[in-house]
Amino acid sequence: MNELIWMNGDVMPLADAKVGVEDRGYQFADGVYEVIRLYEGRPFTLREHLERLEKSAAGIRLALPMPPAALAAEIEQFVARTSVHDGMVYLQATRGCAARNHVFPKHCEPTVLFYVRHLAPLDAPGETPPAALLTVADERWKKCWIKSIALLPNVLAKNEAVAAGADEAAFVEEGVVTECSASNLFIVRGGKLITHPVGPKVLPGITRAVLQQVAKQAGVDWVERPVRLDEAKAADEVFITSTTREISWVGRWDGQTFGQGRCGPVTLRLHRALRDRVARETGTLVGAA
Ligand code: PDD
Repeated sequence: MNELIWMNGDVMPLADAKVGVEDRGYQFADGVYEVIRLYEGRPFTLREHLERLEKSAAGIRLALPMPPAALAAEIEQFVARTSVHDGMVYLQATRGCAARNHVFPKHCEPTVLFYVRHLAPLDAPGETPPAALLTVADERWKKCWIKSIALLPNVLAKNEAVAAGADEAAFVEEGVVTECSASNLFIVRGGKLITHPVGPKVLPGITRAVLQQVAKQAGVDWVERPVRLDEAKAADEVFITSTTREISWVGRWDGQTFGQGRCGPVTLRLHRALRDRVARETGTLVGAA
């Protein structure tokens, strides 16, 4: 089936969708985005993603053309039209088209679009492939809490990681591990879960936020503080989280085997609890694994 896209209220084949060359997203990366996971065709934490989109948009002084509830209804209707069960919604809002000028245009209709893409269903917790990290200098800006489409530093870091045989870049700034190029990073030490606070250098991940609730229910202590690279590398367990991965345990870091060559017990417990939460919220059976 041909892929569809929703663009400024119209639904059309993805291949037919066009954006002007003076769209500010294209010329200035003047836009924000979200990635929302679909489980058996049901969006997970849609409200939380749209709340973050609003915050990101406010962070670049972009007024979204419709309230989150209306956008959520459009997304739900659109998803129901597609045959994608396991997958994701890619949602993007740019300031729109205007004669090129660094100054914000007075009148400009934002370009809002979303489409759905199939993703392979995730393996059971503990059976997911390990992530391999490469340490890369964090050269991003100081507004990483904005889910900006200006992802070139992330793209360069990710490609550096892949070229080195890894699959994710762990950003380090002044000896501190902040997050990864497309995921948040956690260490487990003495049974406690430790992660860098969100803010200038760390995106408030939705998976991270769900994990915080899940950890509380599971009785796992949650600590937010900067973690130095040497401490992270000496941790009992390390894992990364994102909408598309859920939780990936780290099995290699800078070419060295990390951990016991399998998912650690705290990571496994948290991943199972996260799956239960997904299953309860989406009414699907993914948590049965
Ligand atoms: N990336 N940190 C960064 C820099 C990210 O790009 C992402 C997600 C996360 C995790 O956020 P969440 O749990 O809300 O997915 C953390 C998405 C998946 C992407 O760019 O494709």
